[in-house]
Amino acid sequence: MRPVVSTGAEGAPERLQKVLARHGFGSRRACEELIAQSRVTVNGDVAVLGRRVDVDRDEVAVDGVVVGVRPSLVHYLLNKPPGVISTVHDPQGRRTVIDLVPGEPRVFPVGRLDGETEGLLLLTNDGEMTQRLTHPSHGVEKEYLAHLRGNPSRSALRRLREGVSLDDGLTAPARVVRVEADLVKITIHEGRNRQVRRMCEALGYPVVRLVRTRIGPLVDRSLAPGEWRELSATELRRLEVAVGNAGR
Ligand code: URA
Repeated sequence: MRPVVSTGAEGAPERLQKVLARHGFGSRRACEELIAQSRVTVNGDVAVLGRRVDVDRDEVAVDGVVVGVRPSLVHYLLNKPPGVISTVHDPQGRRTVIDLVPGEPRVFPVGRLDGETEGLLLLTNDGEMTQRLTHPSHGVEKEYLAHLRGNPSRSALRRLREGVSLDDGLTAPARVVRVEADLVKITIHEGRNRQVRRMCEALGYPVVRLVRTRIGPLVDRSLAPGEWRELSATELRRLEVAVGNAGR
């Protein structure tokens, strides 16, 4: 890659190390080190110290992973309560996840949780991130706690792990850990409609309560139901890494 010679002539430019520091890459000094080590690119070209960037237009990457530096993008992590639906608008007038987060800028849920499912849901106006998170090939892990009716047998747990035949095909291998007699932690990377409920039901153990506890690197045990918060710079960076930058 060809080194970028900084002209400092871009619109509203900021020093690259300042932008990186703001996005969780350490102190400005540490960020200068990253630049000096040729680990930072701007629009695909290796950046040199002194480089300035326009955060609305330039694409900044560290070690080949694009950093979401655009200030107009927001990423909210919501703890969805039961009974709230994961769409933007409900013709029946039920409460939606959009009612729980700020109205401006307009955001959209990334994927969906069933009406009765609780737990972590990401909402954003970052279309690229949404596309990559929902694209089956990226397969970001999602972890659920499923309270079941009945105590699943060991063979039922093995079948959950190995794949369950559903009407839309066999499910991919899952990680399944028994937490209590009737409570299992299930980690999947597919995003089929009502997948966890259908998997458990198919084996004779209907889900009585389902909570999503992790989306890729994102966890938060202190968000109360109905509460949301913005992702930190570090979380956003970890999410970028988790989804990779394929297709950019
Ligand atoms: N699996 C389900 O069954 N429901 C959800 O909401 C999410 C995953």
